[in-house]
Amino acid sequence: MDPYRNPFAPGAGSRPPELAGRDDILSEARIACGRAVRSRNARSMMLLGLRGTGKTVLLSEIAKIADSEGLIVSKIEAPEGENLPRLIYPEMKKVLRSLSGTEAAKHIANRGLRGLRNFAAIFKIEIAGIEVGVEPEPGLADSGDLQHDIPALFEMIGKAAQAAGRGWILLIDEVQYLSEKDLSALIVAIHRMSQDGLPVVMIGAGLPQVARLAGEAKSYAERLFQYPEVDALDPAAAAIAIENPIKEEGAKIAPGALDTIVAKTQGYPFFIQEWASAAWNTAEGPEISVADVDISYAATISSLDQGFFRVRIDRLTKAEVQFVKAMSDLGDGPYAMADIATSMDRTQKSLGPTRAKVISKGMIYSTDHGYLDFTVPLFADFMRRQR
Ligand SMILES: Nc1ncnc2c1ncn2[C@@H]1O[C@H](COP(=O)(O)OP(=O)(O)O)[C@@H](O)[C@H]1O
Ligand SMILES: [Mg+2]
Repeated sequence: MDPYRNPFAPGAGSRPPELAGRDDILSEARIACGRAVRSRNARSMMLLGLRGTGKTVLLSEIAKIADSEGLIVSKIEAPEGENLPRLIYPEMKKVLRSLSGTEAAKHIANRGLRGLRNFAAIFKIEIAGIEVGVEPEPGLADSGDLQHDIPALFEMIGKAAQAAGRGWILLIDEVQYLSEKDLSALIVAIHRMSQDGLPVVMIGAGLPQVARLAGEAKSYAERLFQYPEVDALDPAAAAIAIENPIKEEGAKIAPGALDTIVAKTQGYPFFIQEWASAAWNTAEGPEISVADVDISYAATISSLDQGFFRVRIDRLTKAEVQFVKAMSDLGDGPYAMADIATSMDRTQKSLGPTRAKVISKGMIYSTDHGYLDFTVPLFADFMRRQR
């Protein structure tokens, strides 16, 4: 059918035509935002899930909701090896600048901007251009201890937002890449906001290990956040994700064809978008048939293999690839470290550094029970196809 009218959206962070099965998470987020602007205690959230399950698109959707609820929205993505002060500085500056334009918030926002200048100096953040009319204010956000300075600045933002009748939402993607120090500072700051009833909410998204990382950083993080799981879609939601966009374009899909995609994708959103898109392009129309779906399967897999799966493995060294290959050779996860070591004819201890590297690259994670598993759904299948 007409590729120009293909509604599907394969690709990281691409907004799906139908955001299926996430109503509960979205409504929790809306409530948190609505409570925050009313200076009611709002629960921050960490969205947890494997790659390709739809965390990034959820954050974007929550950004829209927050905006419509009257919050100022900041969105950052934690890349590997970048530090929090540098990531968050421009966002805090934007928020304080915008709040300083409101008469009722001006005084406190300007204090915040002075604190921010101290913060930039002490954390050696380069500032483009000359800051006009911002006098330093000793003692505000200039301790050099992130766990002290970030909460101090959040407090300024929270108070200014409150005075302006607004709120602030900080959306952070790929939270697993934050260092323990950075994550601690954020948790302390959010804790302070919640204790002081200030209108600041944080919604993070990351791989499943984030719950444990947060708990290790600060034990009270467990109670401070909600941890909704962003998992594969259940069969009903998966069917909606496929069928609604097709109907919306005035086309149809045969029931058997729909069932096949739902079953074989196991409800994984990245897979659904890729396959539904390929099936649409294959079909003569106006109905996507079982044959169309069958024929487009090979193209779907090859596209995923060259994109979604490939980019993950391209980041590994040879030794690290050997490690994940040994995992996939054992079948589907989770995997016991002892089994991996045995199959590689190595000791667990000697594999420790490799294991740690592959975890830090976000390719595998340690499950609640101390086993290892891939952070990318269906990755073991991909590895076995590479033989
Ligand atoms: N609820 C959903 N229903 C249908 N498709 C979705 C849904 N959530 C995400 N997708 C699709 O899945 C793919 C991966 O989404 P993304 O947000 O990048 O995942 P993640 O950030 O978890 O890796 C995108 O193609 C997106 O359009
Ligand atoms: Mg993402």
